[in-house]
Formats: sequence, structure tokens, C-alpha cells
Amino acid sequence: MKRIFTGLQPSGALHIGNYVGALKPFIDLSAEYDSMLMVADYHAITTLKNPTELRQNIIDIARDYVAAGIDPQKAVIFRQSDVPEHTELGWVFQCLVTVPFLQQAHAYKDKVAKGLEPNAGLFAYPMLMAADILLYDTDIVPVGADQRQHVEYAREAAAKFNNAYGETFKEPQERIIEATATVPGTDGKKMSKSYGNTIPLFGTREEIAEAVMSIVTDSSGERPENVYAIHRVVRNEGELQSLYESYKGKYKSLKEALIEDIDAFVSPMREKRDSISDDNVRAFLKDGAERARERASAKMRDVRAKMGLTI
Ligand code: ADP
Ligand code: TRP
Repeated sequence: MKRIFTGLQPSGALHIGNYVGALKPFIDLSAEYDSMLMVADYHAITTLKNPTELRQNIIDIARDYVAAGIDPQKAVIFRQSDVPEHTELGWVFQCLVTVPFLQQAHAYKDKVAKGLEPNAGLFAYPMLMAADILLYDTDIVPVGADQRQHVEYAREAAAKFNNAYGETFKEPQERIIEATATVPGTDGKKMSKSYGNTIPLFGTREEIAEAVMSIVTDSSGERPENVYAIHRVVRNEGELQSLYESYKGKYKSLKEALIEDIDAFVSPMREKRDSISDDNVRAFLKDGAERARERASAKMRDVRAKMGLTI
């Protein structure tokens, strides 16, 4: 059975861009693939330094995975820091790629341009992500468009290792759904946990309403494009055409319709979420960690032996 793998950082509350960019495509494939879904907590510490917040975010995001429709009995849901082989293999890959290669990473450049601290972890981030993916012989990586280059970097890391030490890693492919590859935020730029421009996936109706009402509209075109682009996440284009036709120029009514539609879309997930306790989350993460670790440690034994790290 082929394998899918993806991860999200517990760096803030999930938003509808995370859902349609990564989680939904993962869920859609998970019936036919062996599925692994990771909480990327070691990635999150490149930017998040508050322990209380991190602890809460880890529990929340794992609960959100299940509330969004991922079955922890079927998919392996686990936390990156529970499987030390990730950081170990990340180090190996750092020793195989060059600084100029990592300097070309768009995500790193964008984050530094936004004022984030250029710590060495943030810089080496793509090699930890390569380790995440390659440890499990992943075939497909469902992600949003911003992660395309990181999956290319994973392929590059696999090729570098295979050339140096012999065939060991499979080269993975990204799966990006073009229609929802980059959902815009309330300011029209990419929706992102770190930009304060999100519509939270599990927000209350009031929070959703507040976010939707703050969507920046420009009155130059036929329709408010930012509102429409977000609306496409929850309603099909055919339905939207007639809605936007009949409410032409009435931005407030369109926003009200969007609030209704998002609320209807997330309310079943919200109910499910309320039924999952912190202890449930700890239990399935523990089970996931054991299943992931078994696979990862077998792979690392092979890696160490090939590199001359066994005597
Ligand atoms: P964020 O940028 O909000 O911090 P992450 O970097 O943790 O989100 O991304 C988690 C997953 O969600 C990745 O696969 C990423 O590509 C996807 N994703 C993030 N933002 C968007 C968006 N605005 N539209 C589509 N997919 C997105
Ligand atoms: N870097 C990804 C992001 O910010 C999160 C991530 C970490 C990931 N490891 C991964 C995604 C492995 C896919 C596969 O969105």
C-alpha cells in the first residue's frame, strides 16, 4: 500500500486554509493509502518560544485532526518530538546539503522578511521536514502551494543520500489541489497562522463573523474578490455565481452569506471536537508515537549502517 504523509505546525489555531490546503486532501486520500499525520512541534519551536502556549497548541491541533475527520485507529497520528529519529536524520541531511542551497528556500526568506528571527533552526527547517517525509518511504505529501519547494528539497535530500551511500530513500511527490492551493486571508495575502489574517477553522460563530467582516474589499471589480476566494472554500462555483450575481454590489449581504456558509460547514466538526478530551488526545498520540517509532527506528538502523556509524 502506498503511503501519504503530512504535518502541520502547532504554532497557532488551525484556519480554513490549513483545512482545504492540507487536511482535506489528506482525508480524501486516506481511504486508499497508508496514512501518517504529524504534529510538527520541533518545527514550531523555530518561532514559538512560549511553553504554555506550545503545550496547549499541541493538544489542540491533534484534537483538530480528529475533529476534521481523521480516524486515529486508521491513520498514525503522532508528535514529531516523540520520535527522535526525525532530528537525527535531519542532522544527517544538513551534512549533505550546502548553505547556498538552503539560502534559496522561499519560506525562510519570507519569514525573515516578515521580521522573524533568522535562527539556525529556521534555516535548517527544510532538512528536518525532509527527514519527516523520507523516514517513512512516503509516496505522496498533501500540502498547500507554499510547501511545494520544501517537498522538492526532500527529493533533493533523498537523491544526495542515495548517491553518496546507495539506494535508501524513496523520492516523494507533493499533492497540491490547485483550486485551494493558496487560500487568501482577510487582508488578501496568503492566510497564515502567523499573519493575523485567518478565519479560524474552529472559531465560534462570533469569531468567524468578526473575521469575515474584516475581509478587505476593493470596489473596483465586479465582485469582492477576497470574499469570493474564501467563499469558494465552502461552496461550489456554480452556486456562488448566482449568489454573487443577485447580490451584486452588496458586500455586506455577501459577507453575511459567507458567515452562514462557513458556520454551517464547520459546526459538525466543532461538535465532534467538543467530544474529544485531552486524555483521549494523549492516548492516541501515545499509540501513534509507538507505531511511528517502530518504522522510523528500522529506517535509521539502515541509514546508520550505510554511513559507517555502526562498528
Ligand atoms: P501557516 O502558514 O498557517 O502557519 P502551516 O505552515 O503550519 O500554516 O501549514 C500547514 C499546512 O497548511 C501546509 O500544508 C500548508 O501548505 C497549508 N496551508 C497553510 N496556509 C494555507 C493557505 N492559505 N492556503 C492553502 N493551504 C495552506
Ligand atoms: N513545513 C510544513 C508547514 O509549515 C509543516 C511540515 C513539517 C510538514 N513537516 C512536514 C508538511 C512534512 C508535510 C510533510 O506547513
